[in-house]
Amino acid sequence: MKRQMKKLSKQTYPSLRMRRLRNNSGIRKLISETKLTVDNLVQPIFVTEGKNKTEKISSLPGIYRYSEDNLLREVKKLKSLGIIAVALFPNISKNNKSESANEAFNNDGLIQRCIRKIKNKFPNFIVISDVALDPYTSHGQDGIIDSTGYIINDITNDVLLKQALSHAEAGSDIVAPSDMMDGRIKIIRKGLEKENFYNTKILSYSAKYASSYYGPFRDAVGSISALGKADKKTYQMDFSNKSEAIREVDLDLREGADLVMVKPALPYLDIISLIKKTFKIPVFAYHVSGEYLMIKSAAKNKSIDEKLIVIESLTCIKRSGASSIITYYAKEVAQWLN
Ligand code: PBG
Repeated sequence: MKRQMKKLSKQTYPSLRMRRLRNNSGIRKLISETKLTVDNLVQPIFVTEGKNKTEKISSLPGIYRYSEDNLLREVKKLKSLGIIAVALFPNISKNNKSESANEAFNNDGLIQRCIRKIKNKFPNFIVISDVALDPYTSHGQDGIIDSTGYIINDITNDVLLKQALSHAEAGSDIVAPSDMMDGRIKIIRKGLEKENFYNTKILSYSAKYASSYYGPFRDAVGSISALGKADKKTYQMDFSNKSEAIREVDLDLREGADLVMVKPALPYLDIISLIKKTFKIPVFAYHVSGEYLMIKSAAKNKSIDEKLIVIESLTCIKRSGASSIITYYAKEVAQWLN
């Protein structure tokens, strides 16, 4: 490697001109290393109770909450644009929320019904379902709390297992625990194997940071008011840490995760790159709601070129090592690339 570097550096200007390989679009395309394609994009979809609803989400312009009956039409549209996968998130009414989050594992709950509907109609379309309790708890935390408000790890895991099994039972292709409890991958994998769900994949949100970029999402699933001023720092990671992400991923892989996620995406490219380099596995990146909203808002002010900024951002996320990107821009990018 060192010798090679020496050889390279002997040649300099003018025999070597870096601009030679940039002087027209043909040569630039010919040697480009990263290609953004629809294949690697996942569209998050919010679903809500009731009938004939396509609700605007004020914190996420351009994104909607669909009632079950309107969901299939949207999935069909995404499919026709070449999108292969969606990630489902529920917004349930206040009276279905509780301290115990029982609605999370209701076999006939909103998410379970939606998974069944999509898989019945489009068996090859990939459904990723979120395993976490925040849309279901009256306090908006991702787990069961004690009297001081602390999230009790092991009791939460019991509920997460029931939730994951109810998703697998409904036909979810990929269950995605986004809660950051310790040991939940082990418990969910064991439970899935026991119930003969051998091919249900686990996408672990392994390196999920306690981030202020999630604000608009919390509004979309209706947990923001419940959460109030509370934060999630006793379970989600501190954004100043890096080596901890390796330990989290390592543990999740040993516990049985097939895929891992880094979240958020753009401010965390160093983490994506490090994990890809260390483990040689498919890494998902979640381009989260706050990242989406920042671009949308700037685009609304006409202060940036939205399309160019989005294509550049997502290509850079891929270049850093992500195999797949969950992004609210998936549908629009699919339209642009078509
Ligand atoms: C919660 C969950 C969150 C997101 C996905 N799953 C928010 C949180 O942890 O508070 C955020 C996604 C986004 O901001 O787009 N289990």
